[in-house]
Amino acid sequence: MTTFTAPKGTFDTLPPESATFLAVRDALTAPLRAAGYGYIETPVFEDTALFARGVGESTDVVSKEMYTFDDRGGRSLTLRPELTAGVMRAFIEHKLYAGQLPVKLYAVGSNFRYERPQAGRYRHFTQVDMEALGVDDPALDAEVVQLAVAGFRAIKLENFELQLTSLGDANCRPQYREKLQSFLAGLDLDEETRRRAAINPLRVLDDKRPEVAKQLTDAPLMVDHLCDDCRKHYDEVREHLRDLGVQWVEAPRLVRGLDYYTKTTFELVHNGLGAQSAIGGGGRYDGLSKELGGPDVSGIGYAVGVDRTLLALRAEGLIGDPPARVQAFVVPLGDEARRRGLQIVTDLRAAQIPADLSYGGKGLKGAMKAADRSGARYAVVIGDRDLADGTAQLKDLTTSDQRAVPLTDLTRTVKELLS
Ligand code: HAM
Repeated sequence: MTTFTAPKGTFDTLPPESATFLAVRDALTAPLRAAGYGYIETPVFEDTALFARGVGESTDVVSKEMYTFDDRGGRSLTLRPELTAGVMRAFIEHKLYAGQLPVKLYAVGSNFRYERPQAGRYRHFTQVDMEALGVDDPALDAEVVQLAVAGFRAIKLENFELQLTSLGDANCRPQYREKLQSFLAGLDLDEETRRRAAINPLRVLDDKRPEVAKQLTDAPLMVDHLCDDCRKHYDEVREHLRDLGVQWVEAPRLVRGLDYYTKTTFELVHNGLGAQSAIGGGGRYDGLSKELGGPDVSGIGYAVGVDRTLLALRAEGLIGDPPARVQAFVVPLGDEARRRGLQIVTDLRAAQIPADLSYGGKGLKGAMKAADRSGARYAVVIGDRDLADGTAQLKDLTTSDQRAVPLTDLTRTVKELLS
């Protein structure tokens, strides 16, 4: 019979490594909770048009990478390629803009992009995402950028860089775009690149091919063509970041893969990951709410790739041994002991002691092997004779010391020994 494997570009996260995945995911969200961001959960699929309009038709994400399907009712749905559009949809649908602003939200979850899989690039991946909606204030931009950095610092990551720029707004970007387009028109570019220049000239700036890159050294840059408002905004963001001690490098050629960005835009890039080096990215998106039929309010946020963050931690040697699965392991021997074993392990768990039990009628040898493998510090061995005496044998699995403990004292004793 044929067996199945996880689909191309996807992978399973299994114990014990999955404990690290959960710990990292939680550590990345802790600074957000401390800053008053509330958890939001949105559907894994949305109307296809939400992403087409929100993320942008000209992006690779929308034009080439979406998992789109018709449901049985004939609706075109798409597995979310990112979280921002769905969060914004919920913000508009539930009129969150009518309450106190900014609305601060964070989300954690699966995203799907039909990309060419390689190390750090998957078709199913997990993001920690945050959005601060409804207020256009450089201090808020600085908070968002600082929180992105704080998340990585919380997990002790060091070898990453914050790349920062401003992409202007609806006032200055169209003029800059024209300037860039006329510059690109004078270059020796292939047909496909010309086409790209016509649709999204900014993306050409990111072209890494030497024959293109060398022609781009004198290309006009957005940061040099910001309108007064955007320039002032960007200057203030940087002043706040300086105050907060956040370091960055100016990245005037930074190009994001999603079309909604305006003004402050950033990426966090790790130097130990090869080609897929962005561990997080985000920015302001002041036109998105309006584009999606909502009020004309601003927004800013970022997302961190949890899977890539794990790779970055590994690259820095920061992934230690996963924690033990349980701390106590009950080994019942004999029929009566087996009958009582489940009760004893349940009592231990009720006292917040992670505990497991030897199942399947194993003999002493097999059960002690299971106890060792569980990573538990203590084994609670109970034979029928111990039971008759109202005791259990408590064995320290690191030193092999063993002593009899009254069953009535067992939970308290284990708890004390573990504390
Ligand atoms: P993004 O840059 O497309 O931004 O994705 C954010 C992060 O998700 C990336 O830096 C990367 O770590 C991770 N990521 C993206 N694609 C993949 C993939 N195929 N495999 C593994 N990891 C991946 C956004 O998604 C925006 N929604 C961020 C944002 C929030 N902007 C404003 N608010």
